[in-house]
Amino acid sequence: EVAMYDYDVIFIGAGPGGYVGAIRTAQLGLKTACVEARETLGGTCLNVGCIPSKALLHGSEKFAEAANGTLARYGVKLGKVELDLAALQADKADAVKGLTGGIEFLFKKNKVDWLKGYGSFKDAHTVTVAGKDYTAKNVVIATGSSVTPLPGVEVDNDKGVIVDSTGALALSKVPEHLVVIGGGVIGLEMGSVWKRLGAKVTVVEFLDQLLPGMDGDVRKEAAKIFKKQGMELKLGTKVTSATVKGKKATLTVEPAKGGAAETIEADCVLVAIGRRPHTQGLGLDKIGLELNARGQIETDHDFRTKVDGVWAIGDCIPGPMLAHKAEDEGIAVAENIAGLTGIVNHAVIPGVVYTLPEFAGVGLTEEQAREQGEIKVGKFPMMANSRAKTNHEPDGFVKVIADAKTDKVLGVWAIATVAGTMIAEAAVAMEFGATSEDIAYTCHAHPTHSEAVKEAAMAVTGKPIHI
Ligand code: FAD
Ligand code: NAI
Repeated sequence: EVAMYDYDVIFIGAGPGGYVGAIRTAQLGLKTACVEARETLGGTCLNVGCIPSKALLHGSEKFAEAANGTLARYGVKLGKVELDLAALQADKADAVKGLTGGIEFLFKKNKVDWLKGYGSFKDAHTVTVAGKDYTAKNVVIATGSSVTPLPGVEVDNDKGVIVDSTGALALSKVPEHLVVIGGGVIGLEMGSVWKRLGAKVTVVEFLDQLLPGMDGDVRKEAAKIFKKQGMELKLGTKVTSATVKGKKATLTVEPAKGGAAETIEADCVLVAIGRRPHTQGLGLDKIGLELNARGQIETDHDFRTKVDGVWAIGDCIPGPMLAHKAEDEGIAVAENIAGLTGIVNHAVIPGVVYTLPEFAGVGLTEEQAREQGEIKVGKFPMMANSRAKTNHEPDGFVKVIADAKTDKVLGVWAIATVAGTMIAEAAVAMEFGATSEDIAYTCHAHPTHSEAVKEAAMAVTGKPIHI
């Protein structure tokens, strides 16, 4: 059968969806290729997303700790602290190089062929790359997403005045005033980076609160925390136009509901109003595959599209645009193609904003849970957690939402310095169908931030110890 085709499977796109899926099909004994147009593997995540942003978040946190004098409390006395931005950018580049190179090594090790170039369908079993046709029994579309443009605010990353996330990761000098359009994940993470490195940061958000999609309490607290950190927040505000003169931009903004316009001057503007599926140039028309109203490729539970032999995963299909969601879908689609049973539980996908503190959640928000039925909510402040208190990390809380009758955990939300790590236990608990009592009676090591998860679970039935 294999002889009929060049490959058992071709993945188009080598992001966390495609590269993970390709390694898995190869591990399962299928002859696999992965098409990638970029110079390096790893997709948005490794090249211009998760990894470089986390490198800058980590580095800028170190700089801020040194520069703003907080280390003195621990007896660390520093002289004049200076920023070497080029060194920080080099550290970021190093992280990206190491990890993208690592995927190339894994491809070789697992015998996945990297087909270099832009892939497009000739028919459902033929993909053309750099003028050459490759056939496969199965083709998986894992082409990811790209930045949603804002009409009237044109991005030019080379010029560096109006940039998208890719430009904001590569600035060669700290802007005096950075205006972020969009108070979502990218805006707050990249805003935090440049704020810590010395920029004045203004966030312009269309909605009344930051971080849409997160729990209401978490969103409210986020606004308080970022304001306290010195970010200027213009909520319920829209940008109507932008003009660039030399190295300066002037934005016109007005209340989202209408009203008097004002102008804001900036030397850097970051457009971060969301991402959209990337399917341009794929030739979907050649295989008769249509996109939904949001430009996504629809699949069934097994990640099959409507076209026989064609599958899709990651940012280009519905669901949260997150690397770990794409990875899990990569593994699941690979197992389904190999005749096993690959499943992704879309109800339990954690989301994390890697600012300081981190904002994290899994499952339903309190608002969503209330709509579904009667609930009980337990909340515990980080201020009352011994480790957070000792470390001078008072911001945040953990909130556990459980079904009033069955006590089954429906959602967990956390704001804490290490909320992204803490949320993993909530995801495991929910995956096992845990009750709040299960979490409350699980022994948690002391002193850890994670004890706040246990105490929030205890608070569901009204019995935390430390508050
Ligand atoms: P992608 O990673 O977008 O990969 C798709 C790949 O396909 C690309 O490399 C592209 O070049 C290639 N491609 C597309 N079309 C073709 C074609 N026709 N032929 C050949 N190649 C093609 N998520 C998190 O979970 N945690 C984070 O901390 C996080 N931080 C982020 C920070 C930023 C600044 C950004 C922009 C995103 C971040 N994300 C984060 C989101 C994450 O990057 C995406 O969810 C993830 O990369 C999606 O994986 P994917 O495999 O679906 O697509
Ligand atoms: P986002 O959807 O998180 O936030 C966009 C924000 O822009 C929203 O708050 C929205 O209300 C606002 N907005 C939309 N149009 C606007 C307008 N015209 N004017 C002002 N505000 C407007 O999208 P973002 O931050 O661009 O990130 C894209 C995706 O990348 C995210 O959905 C996320 O999945 C992924 N990502 C994930 C990260 C993580 O997991 N830590 C980090 C960075 C990105």
